[in-house]
Amino acid sequence: MHSADPDRYDGRMPYRRCGDSGLLLPEISLGCWHNFGHVDDQHEARAILRRAFDRGVTHFDLANNYGPPPGSAEENVGRFLAEDFACHRDELIISSKAGHLMWSGPYGEFGSRKHLLSSLDQSLRRLRLDYVDIFYSHCPDPGTPLEETMAALATAVRQGKALYVGLSKYPLKRLKRAVRLLAELGTPCLIYQPPYSILDRWPESKGIHEWLDEKGIGSIVFSPLAQGMLTGKYLDGIPGGSRAGRPEGFLQTAQVEEQQERLRQLGDLAADAGMPLHHLALRWVLQKKGVTSALIGARTVAQLDDSLDALHRPLLEKDLLARIDEIAPA
Ligand SMILES: NC(=O)c1ccc[n+]([C@@H]2O[C@H](COP(=O)([O-])OP(=O)(O)OC[C@H]3O[C@@H](n4cnc5c(N)ncnc54)[C@H](OP(=O)(O)O)[C@@H]3O)[C@@H](O)[C@H]2O)c1
Repeated sequence: MHSADPDRYDGRMPYRRCGDSGLLLPEISLGCWHNFGHVDDQHEARAILRRAFDRGVTHFDLANNYGPPPGSAEENVGRFLAEDFACHRDELIISSKAGHLMWSGPYGEFGSRKHLLSSLDQSLRRLRLDYVDIFYSHCPDPGTPLEETMAALATAVRQGKALYVGLSKYPLKRLKRAVRLLAELGTPCLIYQPPYSILDRWPESKGIHEWLDEKGIGSIVFSPLAQGMLTGKYLDGIPGGSRAGRPEGFLQTAQVEEQQERLRQLGDLAADAGMPLHHLALRWVLQKKGVTSALIGARTVAQLDDSLDALHRPLLEKDLLARIDEIAPA
C-alpha cells in the first residue's frame, strides 16, 4: 500500500503508513482552515469535499477555531458529513484540535484539561460525530504542565471520543517530553503536524523528521504550498479573491512581497523541469524522509484537482533538489 514512487502511480491515491501505527493516510490530505467557514461559498466547499473523497482523499483536517467565524468550518463540514458522507464514516479520517483561542474567558484556549476536553465535546457537536479519528493539542502551552495536557489527550481516547492523538507545532524539546508522557499513559502519539514547505524548512533545520522517523511517529505537513505562494499566483501582484487579497485570509501582503524574488526563481526552475510550481512544491515535501502526508488547502474544485495531479509527477532528480536548496536553503 505504501507508495513513495510516483513512477508507479496508476491514477489511484497512494496511501502511506502513519509512522509505525496501523493507520494509512493518503499522500495528500485536505485541510479546512480556510474556505469552509460561513464567509465562504458553501456550494463550492461541499463540492470540494465530495471531489476529494472521490479521488481517494480519505483525510479531512479541522480545528475548533477554523472559520471564520471560529467553529463555522466544523459546523459546515459537519453538515456535509451528515448529508453526503453518513454511510462513509468508516472510510474517513477526521481530525480536530484544541489549544488556540476559541471562546472568551479563562477556559477558551491553551492546554488545560478543562479547555481540551470541553472543546472536544463542542467539536463533536458541530461535526455531528460520536468521535474524531485524531485529536490534537494544536500548539504548545508553556503555562500548563505538559503532564496535564497529555493526560487530557489520553482521556479523550479512553472516553472513546478520539481514536488517536497528535501534536502540532511543538518545538523538538517539548515534543520529545510530550511523546514520552503519552507513551507512559498508554496513548502513543500517532502523528505530528508541523508547517513545512520549500519556503519554510523549519522542521528540517531542527532534525524533526529524522527524530519522528526514528520514533515511528507519522508527520502530516501543513501549508506545503506556503498558503498559495508556491502556486506562482502572486508573481504579478495580489489577485482578487486570493488568500492574501481577502480580509479574513491569514496570508499577509508583506509575506508575499518578502518571497517575491525567490518565487520567481522557483517558478523558472519548475518551468525548466516541465511542471507547474505547485507540483514541484508538493513533490518536494512528499519526497522528504519522514513525511506521511501533505496537508493542502483548496478554495475551488479546480485547485484541488490541480494539486492532486501532482501525484502524476516523477520523483525530483538530485540536481533539481540541489537547485531548490540553493534558492531556498534550509
Ligand atoms: N496545525 C496548525 O497550526 C495549522 C496551521 C495552518 C494550516 N493547518 C492545516 O493545513 C491545511 C492546509 O493549509 P493551507 O490552506 O495553508 O495549505 P496550502 O496548500 O499551502 O494553501 C492552500 C491555498 O493555496 C491556494 N491554492 C491551492 N491550490 C491552488 C492552485 N492550484 N492554484 C492557485 N492557488 C491555489 C488557495 O488559496 P487562494 O484562496 O489564494 O486561492 C488555497 O486555499 C489547513 O486547512 C489546516 O488543516 C494547520
